[in-house]
Amino acid sequence: MTQDERKTLVAQAALRYITPNSIIGVGTGSTVNKFIEALATIKSTVRGAVSSSNASTERLRALGIAVLQANEVEVLDVYIDGADEIDGSGYMIKGGGAALTREKIVAAQSRKFICIADDSKRVQVLGTFPLPVEIIPMAAAQITRQFARMGGDARLRLQANGEPLVTDNGQHLLDVHGLRITDPLAFENETSQWPGVVTVGVFAHQKADVCLLGTANGVQELVFDQGQSKSC
Ligand code: A5P
Repeated sequence: MTQDERKTLVAQAALRYITPNSIIGVGTGSTVNKFIEALATIKSTVRGAVSSSNASTERLRALGIAVLQANEVEVLDVYIDGADEIDGSGYMIKGGGAALTREKIVAAQSRKFICIADDSKRVQVLGTFPLPVEIIPMAAAQITRQFARMGGDARLRLQANGEPLVTDNGQHLLDVHGLRITDPLAFENETSQWPGVVTVGVFAHQKADVCLLGTANGVQELVFDQGQSKSC
């Protein structure tokens, strides 16, 4: 089975987490794009979605699914999104698609985070995938030095034309190479407080409740213990 087929399988499997007539949180990325396609097949039973990016909003609306603002909704039953890496506790690195800030906001509004991913995303320790960090541009050099003290090599994410990538929130992104994140909660707590950091792409406080993992043998469902870390 190809990686693409694994993504399609987990995207379809995620439909079973949707309660009829509910408003759901929808993430961003190639796996979520497949989920949005699957969602279209049951759209008459979905009241609407809160989306984590302009790209997902466009796709949802094109399929006739209503998109609401996060501020219009108090709590979402479920948030469905991909990941760049996920470990054995449900901690993730996210933001490869540059949508990490809105993803963290919508995840924090949701009772359950269902991660959909192919098995290439499953890791023992987070950090092989360069960690995305959304920042206020004037703080780039200072934050780069702070990551260097941790052994990280932070690089400004650029567009194809060589200009800095600008997020949906009008900010810049660093991709930090060379980290080994053995304590995701402590890492998120520390780096999120650095001045100029908007969002760190470690999802520890908003970790996954469930991961639907696409494998050669089909969909594996991993259920994670939330302990004290769930905030919603
Ligand atoms: C988007 O900003 C990310 O957090 C995505 O969830 C992540 O990059 C996974 O994307 P794919 O499904 O395309 O691998």
